[in-house]
Amino acid sequence: MNTMNISEPQMNEFYRGHIDAHEEVLPGMFGHAECLSPDETPQSGDYDRVFSFHFDPEARKERHRTVFAEDCRRAHILGSRLAGKLRIEGNIMKKVTIFIGSPRKHGSTRILATEAERGLRDQGINTETVSLNDLKIRGCQACYYCKKNDVTACAVQDDMQEIHALMQESDGFILATPIYFAGVTSQTKAWLDRLFPYIGMDLSPKLPGTKKISFIFTQNQPDAQLFEVPIATFMKMVGLTGLSGKDHLVAYDLDAGYKTPVIERKEFMEKAYQIGCSLLE
Ligand SMILES: Cc1cc2nc3c(=O)[nH]c(=O)nc-3n(C[C@H](O)[C@H](O)[C@H](O)COP(=O)(O)O)c2cc1C
Repeated sequence: MNTMNISEPQMNEFYRGHIDAHEEVLPGMFGHAECLSPDETPQSGDYDRVFSFHFDPEARKERHRTVFAEDCRRAHILGSRLAGKLRIEGNIMKKVTIFIGSPRKHGSTRILATEAERGLRDQGINTETVSLNDLKIRGCQACYYCKKNDVTACAVQDDMQEIHALMQESDGFILATPIYFAGVTSQTKAWLDRLFPYIGMDLSPKLPGTKKISFIFTQNQPDAQLFEVPIATFMKMVGLTGLSGKDHLVAYDLDAGYKTPVIERKEFMEKAYQIGCSLLE
């Protein structure tokens, strides 16, 4: 990571050669290396107290809010990718990302996902929970950037970039979503559509089958089988990415605040816990 106070044109004039040389030489030395070279990075928590002939504090404040925030996001992605490489090589703890497709922070879906998380942690697995509702994830723009360039990167610059980093670095996933109108929630569907880079033009999967995924579905309907077909289709579509489906739970007859709380539905709580325990077996 090269941080510098000079501007991008100055960086290109003075340091571009050094940076390119690093990028060329370091992968040969370490197997994996990436460089990030943010420019104009001097920071302050309070620009009103900073006096400088060299910059305009207002412009700097705005840059802190926008460009620096983006630099931080890119640094996070770079770190996540490195962590993913180390994990694949068996050097650090396994990690599972739990995606929550419910907007409710304390709803049935979240409670069951937390049980699965407890199961994972009891196996010594590191977890990270992502509430899809808190992120800005656009639908796929069908630009075919990933297909034309045959890459797993996505051209759409939004919060899905962080999820792509998690898809690379995690060993497994739990996807927990309520059923809305006989399908998954729109937050969950946006996540699925944006997994498009992991599916080749010939439907070949791009994620390694060693990465496992289990699913938790919650629904109001008392008939557990009613949405069997859309649920099976959803899981099959996720599987096109290469993720290997391990298990799933359909927790039925639930409506937080109106029906028996899920915490009292022991069969669902136990199954969710088991889903966590067994995911990476
Ligand atoms: C917009 C909307 C649509 C829903 N559609 C269905 C449905 O088609 N079938 C069903 O069984 N439940 C449906 N439900 C109920 C939820 O799936 C159910 O209450 C679920 O457990 C909610 O999870 P949560 O507590 O995590 O929010 C719907 C709920 C909402 C808000």
